Amino acid sequence: MGLLSSIFGSKTEGGHGDSAAYKPLYDWLGTDMHNHVLPGIDDGSPDVETSLEFLRRYHKLGFRQVVASPHMRFPQFENSNDKIRAAYELLENAPGRNEIPVKLAYSAEYYLDERFLELLERDMLLPFGGNYILTELSLGHRSFLDLDQVAQRMFDKGLRPILAHPERYLYWSKSMETFQKLKSRGWLLQINLMSVLGYYGKVEQRTANYLLDEDIVDFVGTDIHKEKHFDVIAGIDDKILQKLKSKYLINNLFTI
Ligand SMILES: [Fe+2]
Repeated sequence: MGLLSSIFGSKTEGGHGDSAAYKPLYDWLGTDMHNHVLPGIDDGSPDVETSLEFLRRYHKLGFRQVVASPHMRFPQFENSNDKIRAAYELLENAPGRNEIPVKLAYSAEYYLDERFLELLERDMLLPFGGNYILTELSLGHRSFLDLDQVAQRMFDKGLRPILAHPERYLYWSKSMETFQKLKSRGWLLQINLMSVLGYYGKVEQRTANYLLDEDIVDFVGTDIHKEKHFDVIAGIDDKILQKLKSKYLINNLFTI
């Protein structure tokens, strides 16, 4: 590898980016509970080899536990509990998996719609860490659901609702009181690491920082879909890392 490619990173002959320089920057965080590591069931890892490479990178970056959260969103991602479990087992039983010291469990990232409410009513959701459920909204338009009522229905089932990447819902970017309201109604908030790093854009970065400064962030997730996303989080600067480290996060408070 030439000097420039060692500085700026490059593709190896195997097609994977260079992760040799990764440091265990996230050992203090320990757990990633939002990612698309399971092979072939959503817009994340396409196959088992890539999933194994994801897990190797998690290990290099200091993560010890990974809760896979494939999209459960119809009609784009017609996943079922059986399909998710099969993908998980395929990865867990893959040759070489035992050599990667990262614990893996599975849950899902549920799109909030009528189908979700149906799964909730039929007790068919897949919680993690005991009773957490990760949910997401449309990036493009406001939900027609009453989120207070959704949270209440989840509480009634003994579940603890998490809203994924609130900073990415740009229709809320000028109404910061929305986040405080969600918190006061019992929603736990999960920001994406890459939002804090400016990967999606300035607005997402600003909102994520606002949520951190207000101390209303409960989880930090990677939302990793591709190998190159590991390079993004590996590039975190020390100032941002120290800010994240100073926060009270649930990530490192449970075992899977
Ligand atoms: Fe996601």
